[in-house]
Amino acid sequence: MCGIVGYIGRREAYPILIKGLHRLEYRGYDSAGVALINADGKLNVYKAKGKVADLEHAVESKDVSGTIGIAHTRWATHGEPNQVNAHPHYSESEELAIIHNGIIENYAVLKEGLIQHGYTFKSATDTEVLVQLIEYIKHTDKVDLQTAVQLALNQVVGAYAIAVLDRSNPDIIVAARKGSPLVVGIGDGEYFLASDATPIVEFTDKVVYVGEEEIVCLERGKELTLKTIGNVVKTPVVKKLELTLSQLEKGGYPHFMLKEIFEQPTTLATSMRGRVNVEQNNITLAGFIDNKEKFLKAKRIIITACGTSWHAGLIGMYAIEEFARIPVEVEYSSEFRYRKPVIDQDDVVIAISQSGETADTLAAVELAKSHGAFIFGICNVVGASIPRAAHSGCYTHVGPEIGVASTKAFTAQVTVLTMLALMIGRERGTLSEERYLQIVAELGKIPDKIGEILKQNDRIAEFAKTFTYAQNFIYLGRGYNYPVAMEGALKLKEISYIHAEGYPAAEMKHGPIALISQEMPVVVIAPQCGTYEKVVSNIQEIKARKGRIISVVTEGDEIVRHMSDYAITIPQTEECLAPLLAVVPLQLLAYHIAVVKGCDVDQPRNLAKSVTVE
Ligand code: F6R
Repeated sequence: MCGIVGYIGRREAYPILIKGLHRLEYRGYDSAGVALINADGKLNVYKAKGKVADLEHAVESKDVSGTIGIAHTRWATHGEPNQVNAHPHYSESEELAIIHNGIIENYAVLKEGLIQHGYTFKSATDTEVLVQLIEYIKHTDKVDLQTAVQLALNQVVGAYAIAVLDRSNPDIIVAARKGSPLVVGIGDGEYFLASDATPIVEFTDKVVYVGEEEIVCLERGKELTLKTIGNVVKTPVVKKLELTLSQLEKGGYPHFMLKEIFEQPTTLATSMRGRVNVEQNNITLAGFIDNKEKFLKAKRIIITACGTSWHAGLIGMYAIEEFARIPVEVEYSSEFRYRKPVIDQDDVVIAISQSGETADTLAAVELAKSHGAFIFGICNVVGASIPRAAHSGCYTHVGPEIGVASTKAFTAQVTVLTMLALMIGRERGTLSEERYLQIVAELGKIPDKIGEILKQNDRIAEFAKTFTYAQNFIYLGRGYNYPVAMEGALKLKEISYIHAEGYPAAEMKHGPIALISQEMPVVVIAPQCGTYEKVVSNIQEIKARKGRIISVVTEGDEIVRHMSDYAITIPQTEECLAPLLAVVPLQLLAYHIAVVKGCDVDQPRNLAKSVTVE
């Protein structure tokens, strides 16, 4: 939540900062702001409610000159989204300006102390408290900015990625992180700073990922310096960025979400590349092989995640229990971390996160680690906090996911979990070689099969128009497709604002059936699999109550097709792989309904891509 950008060098900072904010807008988009020090040493701060475009509009006639600056796009936590609460925040004397991503939990106590010292506050934010504290320390202790930031952060409880400008020293940006991501780009006589590498990629491929509780100093004409909040000096580790500019553009699609749905044949092939060898019928996951013993001796596997990643985790549970015969528990990270769970040294904890920054999942990882469990991360963003905190893991490698609603990350997470389940099962001898080989061969065909499903996009777009009236949807599925039903419902509610529930199909008659009428669209995931006949019976129950049925069926299934108002076909596949196919039409359905309703598909209201607050 919240995106931060900074620049110091020879160029004009403003265009770089604004472009960076656009790239980071997926992280929050209720208000935005920029602070720049101009050639006369004046520290200008401009802010606007709304999106980055509103900020650009607001500064049209303003002085946005300067070769040093910081900028922010916000997802409100403390204080409503308005201009006053937007970042950057000035300190009392307007000598300092700060941007912040995270939450200062003890801000009320700190604020009280500062008020007693005569400080006044304009906003309702925790961030303004921090900048006032830094200024107070800088003035009373007569220290430089870096020391003042360090001393202030020693008093702070909470999470942050911050960047601070000081009018009295226009050659330095001081930044720090704890719990929220921060990366520095190293150019030729210039530095870039951002929440992730996307604003940096076109300027340099040399980056330093700022570590937990580290403070970094970006000083004009000087080497980058790094130290911890505890004052231990560290050497910055420069890494090469594996990210291309074309991955960050829409490539002719009207929305990132549609682009990302259509990318899935390619992204899944990339996820499997070097891991699934169809010719040799083999799977290799280095993160598993290097830690095989941990998985083989595990008495239990705990999967922890949030949202869409949690749905992927449920599918992982079905696969691991079926193939590896190890009991699996799937936990919402937010519940797991607070419910005093029993965690054993022999447990393997799999943490799934696209962003790798989700605060609750990171906290769940730290908790499990502190109990001695082995942590395996399945993440997309390379170098993010969760993969760094994990003992081992596997990246999904789908490239940046920019649409706030997760699509290609989900299918890749399911793919990685399936590979993992197959590998554990094979090693444990709980999965026959014949079944292993059959599923591996089929896994290799999944990208092309998704390509086939995508050909139905126009037809889905057409019939989606008939459902924009709906206030509620039910999604039903069984077995491996029950989590798919939940994922389909989540996609619809987050981007179209239509209420939707995903249910195990057989549970319908224990309550939700009361909702069925001709006003109620019911999406049934009914591919040919073990529970097919039972799902057909569920469809009959819905038909008898005049519910409108959209079904996802296996090609050639005339029975369910005839019972449905609209049927979308998916190619025949293994039952455990059906979620990878069945979810695609549901992504498209949600997308098209949202587009017809005129919703902001890529940046739905109240949401943010990276949930770095709990
Ligand atoms: C839904 C969605 C969210 C995320 C959740 C976890 O489309 O994107 O539900 O799945 O916030 O995020 P990560 O996977 O980054 O931990």
